[in-house]
Amino acid sequence: MTKENGRFVTFEGCDGCGKSTQLKLLSEYLQQEQIEHIFTREPGGGKISEAIREILLSGKNAEMGDECEALLYAASRAQHIKDRVQPALREGKLVVCDRYVDSSFAYQAFARGLGFSFIEKINAFALEKFLPDVTIFFDLSPREAFARKKGADADDRLEQAGLAFHERVYEGYLSLCEKYPERIVKIDARRSIEEIAKEVLSVLKARGCF
Ligand SMILES: Nc1ncnc2c1ncn2[C@@H]1O[C@H](COP(=O)(O)OP(=O)(O)OP(=O)(O)O)[C@@H](O)[C@H]1O
Ligand SMILES: [Mg+2]
Repeated sequence: MTKENGRFVTFEGCDGCGKSTQLKLLSEYLQQEQIEHIFTREPGGGKISEAIREILLSGKNAEMGDECEALLYAASRAQHIKDRVQPALREGKLVVCDRYVDSSFAYQAFARGLGFSFIEKINAFALEKFLPDVTIFFDLSPREAFARKKGADADDRLEQAGLAFHERVYEGYLSLCEKYPERIVKIDARRSIEEIAKEVLSVLKARGCF
């Protein structure tokens, strides 16, 4: 849990599970209700972090080693916390982040096979105390997500890794849900956009986020 005044919420799930779609709807709700908040994303969310994002996601860097990738994600996260997350939480705002440390667990620890303890170690250093208060996991299998997103993001290095990789990501997320049942709330993301949005609001309200 964070020691600042604001609440920290993260959205997680496989590529194409609907995170950005739900962020947009949540954003509309929060604006309408005049709830002070910021939206941010990982990797990225600041000048330096966005520069690291470009290196990470560029199709030109296909030869990047898994260790380098994991360290860059953690480095980007450390800077993102300093630049955006911590200042907003200090001001008592709600911070909603599209992907965060659980993406490193699912992608680097589980799918790339670097192991949980290594990713935990480098992220403990990067995160300090900034663990989310609530994480929403949008539960949609990669097969279903791929079908929705067909054709998009052809240049994305992670998309090129193929379905088997994304299946491991998905399994990783399911293990994280078991490991952190207090923090991670699993939402069935196969339903309509409106039904999911409703549940997101009710989960966040029930957890005292607004
Ligand atoms: N509940 C839903 N039912 C049907 N289609 C959906 C649903 N939610 C999102 N989509 C569609 O699925 C596609 C992927 O959604 P979106 O971009 O929100 O996923 P994402 O999790 O942000 O993906 P990424 O990890 O690549 O950023 C979009 O075309 C979106 O319109
Ligand atoms: Mg997205």
